[in-house]
Amino acid sequence: MSEALANLLNETRQFPPPAELAADANVTAEAYAEAEADRLAFWERQAGRLAWARQWDQVLDWSNPPFAKWFVGGQLNVAYNCLDRHVEAGRGDKVAIHWEGEPGDTRTITYADLHRMTCQAANALTDLGVVAGDRVAIYMPMVPEAAVAMLACARIGATHSVVFGGFSAESLTNRIQDASAKVVITADGGYRRGKPSALKPTVDEAVANCPSVEHVLVVRRTGESVDWSQRDHWWHETVEQASTEHTAEAFDAEHPLFILYTSGTTARPKGILHTTGGYLTQTSYTSHAVFDLKPETDVYWCTADIGWVTGHSYIVYGPLSNGATQVMYEGTPDTPHKGRFWEIVDRYGVTILYTAPTLIRTMMKWGDDIPAEYSLSTLRLLGSVGEPINPEAWMWYRQHVGRGELPIVDTWWQTETGSIMISPLPGVTAAKPGSAMTPLPGISADVVDDQGQSVPNGGGGYLVLREPWPSMLRTIWGDDNRFIETYWSRFGAGASGTGGDEWIYFAGDGAKKDDDGHVWLLGRVDDVMLVSGHNISTTEVESALVSHPSVAEAAVVGATDPTAGQAIVAFAIPRGSTDISGEAGEQLIADLRNHVAKTLGPIAKPRQIMLVPELPKTRSGKIMRRLLRDVAENRSLGDVTTLQDSSVMELIASGMGGGK
Ligand code: WT7
Repeated sequence: MSEALANLLNETRQFPPPAELAADANVTAEAYAEAEADRLAFWERQAGRLAWARQWDQVLDWSNPPFAKWFVGGQLNVAYNCLDRHVEAGRGDKVAIHWEGEPGDTRTITYADLHRMTCQAANALTDLGVVAGDRVAIYMPMVPEAAVAMLACARIGATHSVVFGGFSAESLTNRIQDASAKVVITADGGYRRGKPSALKPTVDEAVANCPSVEHVLVVRRTGESVDWSQRDHWWHETVEQASTEHTAEAFDAEHPLFILYTSGTTARPKGILHTTGGYLTQTSYTSHAVFDLKPETDVYWCTADIGWVTGHSYIVYGPLSNGATQVMYEGTPDTPHKGRFWEIVDRYGVTILYTAPTLIRTMMKWGDDIPAEYSLSTLRLLGSVGEPINPEAWMWYRQHVGRGELPIVDTWWQTETGSIMISPLPGVTAAKPGSAMTPLPGISADVVDDQGQSVPNGGGGYLVLREPWPSMLRTIWGDDNRFIETYWSRFGAGASGTGGDEWIYFAGDGAKKDDDGHVWLLGRVDDVMLVSGHNISTTEVESALVSHPSVAEAAVVGATDPTAGQAIVAFAIPRGSTDISGEAGEQLIADLRNHVAKTLGPIAKPRQIMLVPELPKTRSGKIMRRLLRDVAENRSLGDVTTLQDSSVMELIASGMGGGK
């Protein structure tokens, strides 16, 4: 990694915050100094933004690393912090959620409404025998009841395990079994791409193999007919008939709040465990700091699904604990037309938009004229999460969505970290396109070499976290050894040999520090290529391809090569109007190979470039390079069950036969 090419460091564009935003920002540069002076006192102050039923005795107990305890002895209720305290403060009539279904139906839900709905669900779950510590699986479309289900679990101390509604019966079965869930909350279905998409049959199939499940609670969304059994209960016949009164009980700061399984490609999914006080402290603080969230005036929209950690932290717990107004949308961005997102931004006056690079690149592919048809004038801050954002995608986002003037926060974090860890602060940082910039106040991220030594500015290596943070995962559910093995054994005290005394968390990502010490994420280390003895990151070659005006999106893999060890094989999606038929396509491929060589140096010139209509992505939108490697090395495909759209691989593999 230390030999990685230096191209990204040549990115010289830098965009300071707009003056008005900087003048009125929730968080200023002082926060870095305060956290630097006393990290634990800093987090203690952030915990103080929440309502606690009992004050903690100790901020951090790190006496048994890597098992952390934050705010030891403190007690609080997460749902109380997200709902009751806003209602009690007279803000019950404020809109919590502007919900829009894919078919165009809408609901306006105030904090008082959300509070009542959550109390009813808490009472109904209690009636079904759910008690604190039990696990509840949630398999839902993006309807408000999904958030209500999570909040109701939090309210009664049940640990929720949300499983993304696009996952198969087998994935659902594995997750229910791993956590021995007692209840499953689901819906008959949701709307996707213009049609009802059933969920209940998948639950029926899964639950048949899950003896732990006693009850299934079903929200009626599509009205399609469903099979029914003894253990099934309609939401409208139980929850909506229950009392709207419920007193929230305080739970220990380390009480398990939720389990969320990381998608995992081939390995058994890992049940990432998050707890109560530290998790809410950091999700709440980062919503306030990174999005500069102003509950009185902002309309916030995070386009993630509630089935991912982004939906947990930045739809449910972060924004609601801050009393924000937000938009929640059920469907896909191109139903019924490709301007759907921009129409929603204009309709609700969205001021803060948080989305993923995969979406931005898709919008680039669809063309500049689509966002141009909308005003987008209410937007004041843009965010990105999930993958490295290529500098050109960043510029496109700023230009075509952000009127050429809005700040963009590129937020690096993981299911495991629970909250944002590395990101610009929008009122402080002069952001560079493609860089997540700086660890947030109170976070000690670093880039280290193979030996675990901090690399100097200008160097590359592995991204690590040196100090525990409040919303860190506490373990892998039921598997402490795997927790240590996966995250704590590569560097530091957990590594065999001379790692030193310090416990160091290895995130699995490659990264670089530029000459100013700003952090550039280079993708998962498994994706780094070794070409003729040089480490080259797939992210860098992809960014070089996307910087060509004819390319919207690209994926790069290293394929075994008899001379170079590995050779670079690239897959590129052309932008909207590009002609790729016959010779024009051949010419474009030749141009692209030269363009990469010119941008990064001849060593990075791809051996082969394929023009493709789509790329294989996981359901959370990450490119599955493993499958592209199978194609590039002429192997039969590995497991494709986590693909968003399994037909994509046939398209790509058949084109590969042409031998470009
Ligand atoms: C992995 C975590 C974070 C919530 C959604 C994904 C990649 C995430 C960025 C970013 C570069 C990023 C990393 C990380 N990643 N954000 N801003 N820049 N890479 O959560 O599914 O747990 O994935 O996503 O590789 O390790 P996740």
